[in-house]
Amino acid sequence: MAKILHTPPSPTTARLVTGAKLPAYVFDSAKDLARRVAGVIASVIHERNALGQNAVLGLPTGSTPVSVYRELIRMHREEGLDFSNVVTFNLDEYYGIHPDRSQSYQRWMREHLFDHINVPRENINIPDGTLPLEEVNAFCDAYEAKIQQAGGIDVMLLGIGRNGHIGFNEPFSVRNSRTRLCTLDPITRVDAASDFFGEENVPTQAITMGLGSILSSRKVLLIALGESKARIIRETLENEVTARNPASYLQEHEDVSVLIDLAAAKELSAVTTPWLVGIVDWTDSMIKRAVIWLCEQSGKALLKLDDDDFRNHNLHYLLRHHGPAPTLAHRVFRWMMDTIDYHPAGRDAKRVICFSPHPDDDVISMGGTLIRLVEDQHETHIAYMTSGNIAVFDHDARRVADMVTEYNRLFGIDEKKSTEVEASVNEALTKKVPGQFDHEAVLKIKGLIRWSEAKAGALTVGCQEKNLHFLDLPFYRTGAVDKKPIGPEDVAIIRELIERIQPQQIYVAGDLSDPHGTHRVCAEAIFLALQEIELATGSRPDVLLYRGAWQEYELDEIEIAVPLSPGDMELKREAIFMHESQKDEALFPGSDPREFWQRAEDRNKGTAARYNQIGLPEFFALEAFVRWDGVPL
Ligand code: F6R
Repeated sequence: MAKILHTPPSPTTARLVTGAKLPAYVFDSAKDLARRVAGVIASVIHERNALGQNAVLGLPTGSTPVSVYRELIRMHREEGLDFSNVVTFNLDEYYGIHPDRSQSYQRWMREHLFDHINVPRENINIPDGTLPLEEVNAFCDAYEAKIQQAGGIDVMLLGIGRNGHIGFNEPFSVRNSRTRLCTLDPITRVDAASDFFGEENVPTQAITMGLGSILSSRKVLLIALGESKARIIRETLENEVTARNPASYLQEHEDVSVLIDLAAAKELSAVTTPWLVGIVDWTDSMIKRAVIWLCEQSGKALLKLDDDDFRNHNLHYLLRHHGPAPTLAHRVFRWMMDTIDYHPAGRDAKRVICFSPHPDDDVISMGGTLIRLVEDQHETHIAYMTSGNIAVFDHDARRVADMVTEYNRLFGIDEKKSTEVEASVNEALTKKVPGQFDHEAVLKIKGLIRWSEAKAGALTVGCQEKNLHFLDLPFYRTGAVDKKPIGPEDVAIIRELIERIQPQQIYVAGDLSDPHGTHRVCAEAIFLALQEIELATGSRPDVLLYRGAWQEYELDEIEIAVPLSPGDMELKREAIFMHESQKDEALFPGSDPREFWQRAEDRNKGTAARYNQIGLPEFFALEAFVRWDGVPL
């Protein structure tokens, strides 16, 4: 079978990573990556079919392969890709999860792939997580035997956990391990918490193919998307093989390719410090990045850098062709000074819209800027794109239902009806199995809780109630963590709002790193709406991107930095506090133990500290933005 390395992706869609211990390709878009992976799988199916043989695929679940499976489904429907001679083996399944539960990998595979292609049911193999303990070993041996009988795995598709797991081979799994029952690592359980509506509901065990089973496959494709994978991808591609990082064993396989998006490539030396691993095209942005990096390395402010600092850090070429040091340092100093802007929408009154994917992203991510926009007399609108109703604890819904019933009783408002609703909410919540979807009435109450918090937060930073818009986009209304892809109805709602308000500037959550996260989907919908508007009218508003609650832009990426005074920060904190259902303990806090207000403050003060370190004015805190380049996702 042809090795993937014989047909690397075209350089227009992907770049080979220099200095990596495995062949790795960075794709500009997750869609290109999915097309490429699906293309490789399809060619293996064709090759096998041509020989009259079955193609044997090893398959993962998770957020990463979703777009690959969508592409395979498209190829099946539109190009007749035939799966009738395909045999599949899934990598893993949670132990103790019934196949009908929404978290079951069996069900996940049916919904995301098998129900939409013509793979014969008898050719599908997924570990059985419902077996009694005493039957598990025999089942695992039989699973391995079945892989052998099928002729071994032709292509093994892999995702990777933040801790380096492949399948559920957690850190320190044995190199030659085979299919077995394993115990899940704490990091894996935290990452699965949102699928199970809380970490405590995540199973502690799973059945997984072993590292030995994976490494026996003929071809391995490891894919990784998003910033959360950037660190482990760097370790897998740049460090030595170690049991601490199971994915590093892939370095011992002779036909493996790693396919990643820009966000997952973010920490690779070839990206952070390309001048240390190869030849560099010294564009303005590369100069900015290198000189800021040099400040960090040398511990010096920009205007204190000298020629020796450049020479001592392997920046001879930059110095020779763009130097001397004071010229370079001054250039970067000016660029960075120009980012500081107290009036991000200018001085003349304008209309602006801040698009907030969830009800609290507006104040968490740009609360200080909202204060400034209102102070500058801009007509400041906020559009809440989703209800955020899945991120409310059951006990909060119960408390509000109880309070509303009591309120209605006190004021004699349709007491019978509200008692009925409260009873149905209580009944639904009492019957609810951990991790189950909510009843319609419960979801409504949870949505209302977040609606009232969003309103209170926006009023705190000075916005007017008439300028708040609750879009409740259809893609989000699944009641589950998994969302539908963006559709024309989502785009139409956004377009209608923009056409009605006619803003000169809009703010969009630009967390493009998580390809299936709500933020990215929301940005995708806004960009599509803007594209339609531009096509129809020839113009569009100015678009500034902000980062959500999770990460901040790198210093060299920032185009606008809005200073916040201690007073602004206090008001911003008050606005975040209005989101009571997310305070103290959020249902989906992610892997960061800090509360949202703490993250926001640390981040804004951290950006100011970094400006200070490179010798720019000392601010209390800064909110950072970049301009959208007009390219849809
Ligand atoms: C799932 C599996 C896991 C995932 C990994 C990444 O079948 O084998 O190793 O591939 O946890 O998950 P996502 O893609 O959700 O980030």
